[in-house]
Amino acid sequence: MALFQRTLLRGEAFTMSAAPEEADDSPYCCCSAATFMEILERQRAEPLPFMELLMVHAGCGGGCGSCIDDLEAYLRQHDAYIED
Ligand code: FES
Repeated sequence: MALFQRTLLRGEAFTMSAAPEEADDSPYCCCSAATFMEILERQRAEPLPFMELLMVHAGCGGGCGSCIDDLEAYLRQHDAYIED
């Protein structure tokens, strides 16, 4: 807690790693072998336009494509969607 307060007082960015981990109950993309949350984390680490994301961060581009609309909505809800 003290570290958290010191960081805030200095006005520096901080991570939320001290907070309890959010449970990953997001949908699962079989073609990516990953949950939407895992794909979101990849997107946050390396932001890509949506079509490129489908090829790089997810397996949707070469997969069945059944979850693409839901994945797009999920990324938009988490402010991680980038237009092509
Ligand atoms: S289940 Fe996500 S593309 Fe197939």
